[in-house]
Amino acid sequence: MLEIQGLTKRFGTVTALDRLSLRIEKGERIAVIGRSGAGKSTMLRSINRLETPTEGDILFNGASVLALKGKAVNAWRARCAMIFQQFQLVPRLDVLTNVLVGRLHERPLLSSMIKHFPAEERAKAVIELDRLGMAETAFKRAGDLSGGQQQRVAIARAMVQDPEILLADEPIASLDPRNAHAVMQTLQDFNADRGVAVIINLHAIDIARQYCQRVVGLAQGKVVFDGPCDALDEEALSLIYDGPKSDDDGEEQALAS
Ligand SMILES: Nc1ncnc2c1ncn2[C@@H]1O[C@H](COP(=O)(O)OP(=O)(O)OP(=O)(O)O)[C@@H](O)[C@H]1O
Ligand SMILES: [Mg+2]
Repeated sequence: MLEIQGLTKRFGTVTALDRLSLRIEKGERIAVIGRSGAGKSTMLRSINRLETPTEGDILFNGASVLALKGKAVNAWRARCAMIFQQFQLVPRLDVLTNVLVGRLHERPLLSSMIKHFPAEERAKAVIELDRLGMAETAFKRAGDLSGGQQQRVAIARAMVQDPEILLADEPIASLDPRNAHAVMQTLQDFNADRGVAVIINLHAIDIARQYCQRVVGLAQGKVVFDGPCDALDEEALSLIYDGPKSDDDGEEQALAS
């Protein structure tokens, strides 16, 4: 379905992605792990066209994603929804409106500006919120919710887009353990119920093992491990996490052990 071919991204003298190749099939649930700076975010951002790779290509069902221009880029972004560590909601708007923003790519500009959404879209948004146990928050200010609730609103916003891929860049990094599990469960259900491929950048290996089927390990912009969670043994972890030392090694080693 999605094929990353020899992707390289350089920022000046830094090579964030180094001829990275990866195939992702429909309905997979993949954790991407690796040290800080390994290129996890750059990979997801490249898929979503938030970064422009220096070399290589990304194919979706055989067609180049990197060749898309103008409106076709926005249409692609809707097909591969992205969620972030910091949720990226509009805090002063209510939850329902934040979810409906996920449909904006299909609305004329004027109706978007006056926040006019047809009843059926509002109903769809409420149904998604209800599925996540969040319906009662629909008219609360998004900024007043807990982090875990805000991340679930962000997932609901992604769900109403009906994406074919969901990209999640450290979706639980700023959540406490209980909320982290709730959000991971939500992502797992989304994947299982709709057959949407989910690619999740994660720092916590135990969470990757618990909620994902396949693990991709990046180091210095390359894939150094790709396999089922069971195959993620000490040797694999040392391939992913051991390498030239950097400032945040202490934290990384602690997480890896
Ligand atoms: N906009 C940018 N400008 C310059 N360098 C960048 C930029 N974005 C990323 N980089 C560099 O590219 C490399 C890969 O960064 P990336 O953010 O993809 O890593 P990561 O695996 O997501 O790390 P983390 O776990 O800390 O989020 C790093 O060396 C980073 O400093
Ligand atoms: Mg990152």
